[in-house]
Amino acid sequence: MNPDIFQLFSLKDRVVIITGGAGFLGMQYADVLSMAGAHVVLFDLKDEMVMQESMQKITNASGVEAMAVRVDITQKEAVEAAVDAVVKKFGKIDVLINNAAMNPAVGSKDAEALFAPYEKYPIDLWRKEVEVNLTGAEICTQAVSPIMMNQKRGVIINQGSELAVTAYDHRVYGEGSGKYKSAAYIATKSALLGLTRAWAEYLAPHGVRVNMFCPVGMQTPTHPEDFVKRYSSLIMFGRMAQGGEYNGAMLFLCSDASLFMTGANLIMDGGKTAW
Ligand SMILES: NC(=O)c1ccc[n+]([C@@H]2O[C@H](COP(=O)([O-])OP(=O)(O)OC[C@H]3O[C@@H](n4cnc5c(N)ncnc54)[C@H](O)[C@@H]3O)[C@@H](O)[C@H]2O)c1
Repeated sequence: MNPDIFQLFSLKDRVVIITGGAGFLGMQYADVLSMAGAHVVLFDLKDEMVMQESMQKITNASGVEAMAVRVDITQKEAVEAAVDAVVKKFGKIDVLINNAAMNPAVGSKDAEALFAPYEKYPIDLWRKEVEVNLTGAEICTQAVSPIMMNQKRGVIINQGSELAVTAYDHRVYGEGSGKYKSAAYIATKSALLGLTRAWAEYLAPHGVRVNMFCPVGMQTPTHPEDFVKRYSSLIMFGRMAQGGEYNGAMLFLCSDASLFMTGANLIMDGGKTAW
């Protein structure tokens, strides 16, 4: 094979911001993108120590300089300051991945309220989810887009979910569980698809691409066994996604391999939504 083919996937010296970058999928993305040569910048709310450790982990594995900024993506001025700091350090921004969201794992005790029945769902939680999952993406996009327009290039990826195009099948929680995946989560993921298309159209004349990535649930050690079994039965491959399985898709979307793609929705779900 001609080695030039691999250049399509190279992110050498590209600067990539990942919101929610210190989280479960964020760290997997940071890892692969950094391995492909990118300077990865983590935007997250986690403790400063966790942020620094996460950044160090990435740098140690790839040898490429990374950066961590503790920032709340719902705070416009703080996001603008964080973006300024990235430009000051690296001189540009090539990719923004709007990945942060309120997405508690099934079985996590501290997030019980996020699984409440719809008619009783606390409206302040609804508002918070809209704020983080949707408004946060809008704020970050507003902050980086002038830089990308000036550069006449850039990539924005909105992390969706297969729930952008489906409802949740609550039978996976087990009969009588009383658990429901929040309607706000599903509504904000659907809305992100609209945000993707709106910004794709707006930024296309400036050479900036905007796409959406919609994965299905990835298995974690905290998932109860019976949940994994029921969830897997909804997927053509008969299993949940495993760690690292979304890395190739994210590398494709960030790199020149997807150069002619904008306003699109890439669904990677083991066949779940096709069933
Ligand atoms: N894990 C999955 O199986 C799965 C499946 C489909 C879609 N997704 C989507 O992937 C993305 C990442 O999910 P995850 O499972 O890694 O979740 P996660 O909870 O591990 O990571 C989310 C990260 O976002 C951060 N965050 C939350 N609010 C923030 C704010 N206001 N400002 C800055 N950072 C904030 C959190 O601190 C956390 O590190 C989400 O958009 C989620 O909806 C995940």
